[in-house]
Parts: sequence; C-alpha cells; structure tokens
Amino acid sequence: MKKGRIIIDREFQVAQTDPRIYGSFIEHLGRAVYEGIYQPGNPYADENGFRRDTLDLIREIDVPVVRYPGGNFVSNYNWEDGVGPKELRPKRLDLAWKTIEPNEFGLDEFVDWCRIAGTEPMMAVNLGTRGAEQARDILEYCNIEKNSKFAHMHRANGHEKPHDIKLWCLGNEMDGVWQTCAKTPMEYARLAEETAKMMRVVDPSIELVACGSCGINQPTFGVWDATVLERCYRYVNYLSMHMYFAYDKAAGPADFLANTLKMDEFIQSVVAICDYVKAITRSKKEMYISFDEWNVWYHSKEADAKREPWCFYPPLLEDVYNFMDALTVGSMLITLLKHADRVKIACLAQLVNVIAPIMTSDTGAWRQTIFYPYMHASRYGRGTVLQTKVDCDKYDSRNFTDVPYLDSVVVDGGDQLTIFAVNRDLEEDMELTCDLRQYKDYRLAKHLVMTCDDLFAVNTEADPNRVVPTTTNASKFEDGVFTSVIGKHSWNVIVLEK
Ligand code: AHR
Repeated sequence: MKKGRIIIDREFQVAQTDPRIYGSFIEHLGRAVYEGIYQPGNPYADENGFRRDTLDLIREIDVPVVRYPGGNFVSNYNWEDGVGPKELRPKRLDLAWKTIEPNEFGLDEFVDWCRIAGTEPMMAVNLGTRGAEQARDILEYCNIEKNSKFAHMHRANGHEKPHDIKLWCLGNEMDGVWQTCAKTPMEYARLAEETAKMMRVVDPSIELVACGSCGINQPTFGVWDATVLERCYRYVNYLSMHMYFAYDKAAGPADFLANTLKMDEFIQSVVAICDYVKAITRSKKEMYISFDEWNVWYHSKEADAKREPWCFYPPLLEDVYNFMDALTVGSMLITLLKHADRVKIACLAQLVNVIAPIMTSDTGAWRQTIFYPYMHASRYGRGTVLQTKVDCDKYDSRNFTDVPYLDSVVVDGGDQLTIFAVNRDLEEDMELTCDLRQYKDYRLAKHLVMTCDDLFAVNTEADPNRVVPTTTNASKFEDGVFTSVIGKHSWNVIVLEK
C-alpha cells in the first residue's frame, strides 16, 4: 500500500479564505433560470415563482455570491428588457445560445431571489454589443437612491431601496471568438478602462472585475492580460480566469484526475502577469483573481450541437456528472484554496441545471455527484489556509508528469481544522498520516468519504443517492497524529474540533 504524509504547521499560513471563493453562477442559458430557479405554477414555487426546492439545496451548500446574467449571454443582453411590467417585456433572440429569451425574469427578480437565497449578486455588464453608457445606467438603476432617471425607474418598478450591488464584471470572455462583439486586447483594455472610470464615479464603493484571458490556450493568453491590466490596473480589483476540464477517453481517468496541475500552472502564470504590471506601473496595490467560471464540462456537448435553434429554455449544457467528475471538482477546490492569497472570488459554473451541482425536473430537485465536494468545501473550508507539505509517490499520465497521488489542503477555521484530500490512485488505498502536533487538544469530529467502485456512476432523479458521502470510523487521532487508510480514488474531508 502506498503512503501519504501531510505535515502541518499553524504558523505557515497562505491566507484567510475569502468566503466568495465558494461562489457560483446563474446564466440565462438553457434551464438555469427558467425551470431551475424560477418556475411560476410549479408545486414547489413560492409566491414569486422561485423554486423552493432549489433554494433549499442552495442554502445547504451556503453559496456566498452568484454571478449573473452571463456568461456569453450578457454580451448581447439589454438589461432594460428584463425590468418593469412583465407584460411589456420583449422576447429577444439570445445570440450566444441561439434561444429565445422571454425576459420574464430579470435584474430585479434576480436580486430579490438572491436575498431569499442568502447570497450576494455579482453582476456582469454587456461590453459586447454595448458599452460604458449602459454600464453607467444599470449601476445607476441598482445603486443610486433618488433624483435621477434610473433611480426613479427602480422605485417605479417597486423597489424603494437601491439594490446596492457591490461586485461588477466588466463583460465576459471578451477575448473569445465565440463572444458577440469580441475584442482585441487593446480594444477591450480601453473599453474596460473607460467603463470602469465611469462606474467608479457613479459609485466609488463598488469592486470591479476585468476580463482576463478566458483560457491558458487562448491565442492571446498573456498578452491580453498584460494589456488589459496596463490600462486598467488602478481602476479594477480583480482579473477574471475561467477553466473547464473535459474527459479524454484515450488518456484515461488517471490523466483526467491530473488536470488540476494545469489549473495550478494557469493561476501561477496569471499571478505573475498581475505582479509584472504592478511592478511596471509602480503600484502598491495587489491585484486579485476572480476565478469566476470553473468546472468539468463535456458530457452534453455532442447533444447540444444538434439542438434546434430559437426555442424557449431548451435543456442545454445538462451534463450528468459521474463520480470521477466529483473527484476532479474536489481537486479543483483544493487548487483554488492553495491559492487563497490571490484567488478571492471563484464561481462554480454553474449552479442549477446548466453544468450544475443541482438538477431539477417538474417534480423535484436532486444533487449531482459534484454537489458534495462543493458543499463540503463551502461548509468546512472557511478560515486560514495553511501551507501544507505533502510527501507521497507520484505518477505520469499521457499529458502530465510527476502527479502526486495525494492532493490535499488544510484549512484552520479557529475551533475547527479541516483536511481535504483526494487519493488519485486508481488501484490502491493509501496509508495517510497527518502530523498535527500543534493541535493535540483537538478531537476527531468526523471523516467524510466519497468513493464508488464505478468511476462512471451518476446520480439521477430516479436514483439520486447512487454516489453520496459516508462517514468512516476507521480513522484515528492520537497524540497529535491523524492516521487513516484512505480508499483508492476517494474524496476525504477530515474535520477536527477543539
Ligand atoms: O458557463 C458556460 C459558458 O462558458 C459561459 O457562458 C461562458 O462564459 C463560457 O464560455
């Protein structure tokens, strides 16, 4: 049996986690909004039409922030279409996903929904077909209390108090050729700079996210990020990053589970670019990362390519996640946490029905496999991330070398210490030892394990509990040393309490 050893020192700290690292995302895409969170007439809907069953599952995760309304959708969206009397709202072509947007749910409904869900809105403005002027208007509508056109409009639409939205994205993936009105690096850099300046005048208390390269394989990766930051450094707080992983059958599961090495490399590269621009602009300010789209995404692509265009909320991007995807999501969470000093915001893309941990039908809502690592990290992973030294064997796969079998991170939450660990080994269990000599006065509260004989097993409406976490009693914590045998291909959450 292979061995893994984790050495922890409470003085060696990465950073305090920003709770927003457990954010998510709802786009006007497929059945995310309609039938996902909003479905008037459904037996689960409340008086606003919000699905109560979905709200319950979102509260179970404890999602601190939700990005909205896109995504690719936002680059062709007129936010004004989605406010005011519903009978006057137009139906529009959504060019990103080739559907019809009915505009029955819009900005005000979203903010009302956020308040009920116990989460904060993170709003994106359209820098594709539109620009600085509409960004000014939507911010005025949301955050200015009185005496102006959009403040009046906001009140007339039934909201006495401003929404007071603090976090704003300056467009979405503007370097992507698929984006409506994509930009060159300098086109976007100047547009984002002037939009940010204008928005900061309207409300200086907001935080702004500029679009970074939407992938490490983008042709302009690096140049894009440096160009954008050279223009915008002083006006923005975060640079965005996006990353999705797909399973490559030929490379196999061991390679799939190693993908987070690439995510780690991507973060390190973007942080280096941020620091380069900090240096050349002689800035004292630190630029942070908003990793505002991340997930596994591949199951639905073939079916989606065959869909009829111009329908109302067709089932798009409805990946049915298997157990192996949950392990990858667990590793992605570990990677984000390891960079908690720079990654302050991260959004699992997305939240309901569209590449999501939560699925709905007309008759109920259920948890996909990836729900669990996300929920565990959000519930047990808040506090100070410690620099964790891991000793273990490594392997090579088709696209990666020196992949540690053990992927782990530790979060000290004060009276609670959590060890998150993925055993990437597909063949063997692992003897795990954690040296926790400074935590001798703690006790082992629980060891949650998620594993399954079948890497490809899924949860469905008919069989929603095929892959679920269990608790093991086989682990020990004695005299400051935690020992356990963690199963091959398993996700582990070890919680110690004072
Ligand atoms: O999350 C799905 C899509 O992925 C988003 O709309 C877009 O930003 C990204 O390409």
